[in-house]
Amino acid sequence: MAEWVKSGWRNKPRIQMPDYTDEDALKAVEAQLASYPPLVFAGEARRLKEQLGAASRGEAFLLQGGDCAESFEQFSADGIRDTFKVMLQMAMVLTYGAKVPVVKVGRMAGQFAKPRSAPTETVDGIELPSYRGDIINELDFTSASRIPDPKKMLQAYTQAAATLNLLRAFSTGGYADVHQVHSWTLGFTEGEKATKYRDMANRISNALDFMKAAGVSSATSSALRTVDFYTSHEGLLLEYEEALTRLDSTSGKWLAGSGHMIWIGDRTRQPDGAHVEYCSGVLNPIGLKCGPTTTAEDLKVLMAKLNPENEAGRLTLIARFGAGSVGEHLPRLVKAVQEEGANVLWTCDPMHGNTIKSATGYKTRPFDSVLREVREFFGVHKAEGTVPGGVHFEMTGQDVTECTGGVRAVTEEDLSDRYHTACDPRLNASQSLELAFLVAEELSSLRETRQAEAV
Ligand code: PEP
Ligand code: CO
Repeated sequence: MAEWVKSGWRNKPRIQMPDYTDEDALKAVEAQLASYPPLVFAGEARRLKEQLGAASRGEAFLLQGGDCAESFEQFSADGIRDTFKVMLQMAMVLTYGAKVPVVKVGRMAGQFAKPRSAPTETVDGIELPSYRGDIINELDFTSASRIPDPKKMLQAYTQAAATLNLLRAFSTGGYADVHQVHSWTLGFTEGEKATKYRDMANRISNALDFMKAAGVSSATSSALRTVDFYTSHEGLLLEYEEALTRLDSTSGKWLAGSGHMIWIGDRTRQPDGAHVEYCSGVLNPIGLKCGPTTTAEDLKVLMAKLNPENEAGRLTLIARFGAGSVGEHLPRLVKAVQEEGANVLWTCDPMHGNTIKSATGYKTRPFDSVLREVREFFGVHKAEGTVPGGVHFEMTGQDVTECTGGVRAVTEEDLSDRYHTACDPRLNASQSLELAFLVAEELSSLRETRQAEAV
């Protein structure tokens, strides 16, 4: 087999990528990005891989979350802080339910390029190319805005670097202290309708009090004061990915320097396509979305291409079938994995199979469908004796009204109040935390069942 090269994807069929018209401008941007420092380091990607390997064995649990699409316009320190904060709260609740470490991975610092269901969009009889994310073109509905501009990759790089800088500071600078994180969560359970979560929150408080009495506090233990926080995005815009690919001198392998983990979307997972070719050659942990049209045969080929050495933590399969469809699709794919004896981490994305159009015209996702898909995912793994190792959410720390439902119920009429997403509807802070409580209950009941079976 020919040796992998970072530009090898260029010889494969590509879809969902822009046709840049100004070849010279594109080349200049690629050269510039190629001369910049990588955003992440190989040692970090390797550590994440180890932690995902633990999650694949049920010794850790993956929480992956963030915007559907990061936006240039809405970029702010507060936005990053709030999403980081809610993810820490969710992680703490999940840790309590799962009794294993929670690996935290943001859809952040690079989640800019979007696959679209149609190449063009028509409004009032005018047809224009679709918006493909801020790294490619602009959301405004004018023909100038929709022209792909390679220079946007430079702005995306700068924003990703600034985002990572802040995340690294928050992770170690006192902001991530467990006591502080838990006090925010207690605030949530004081809400009138959220009292049903108070019991678990109180049990977490008791556990923290006990540790303090036993001499383990954030003053004495850095584990209670700092967190590992990783970044991820869909590796869709391959010119950007290639330009940030770096050789890791320690291992002699290639690193996607754009983020710790990159994933392949449901629309670009063709076994002989450009995206699979690129991802097959980098050392990072790789995610692969699995949807209703993923066949067992394709999955087998993809596992062999993306994880030929069957390394634990290398490949995360992100199931996104839609509530009501998990039972039809997940068992056959779980079986394909077992037949191959493949090491994979199974996680659940309960967002992308549950998008509907509300009566008021907004794209939304009902909280109940999201929860139902998570429960079905757990149900299948329980029945198959396999490990449900993580969850993948589109969420924000802001108080948006994009998904309906939750204890602070967002109705279809409310959607227009604070609908800010640049792409798909996200869970808001309250809905995200509520979902974490519900997933923690699933984890805790699964743990109890398996312990009872083991006796
Ligand atoms: C996404 O994660 O934003 C996305 C487009 O997902 P999928 O590829 O699963 O549709
Ligand atoms: Co999305």
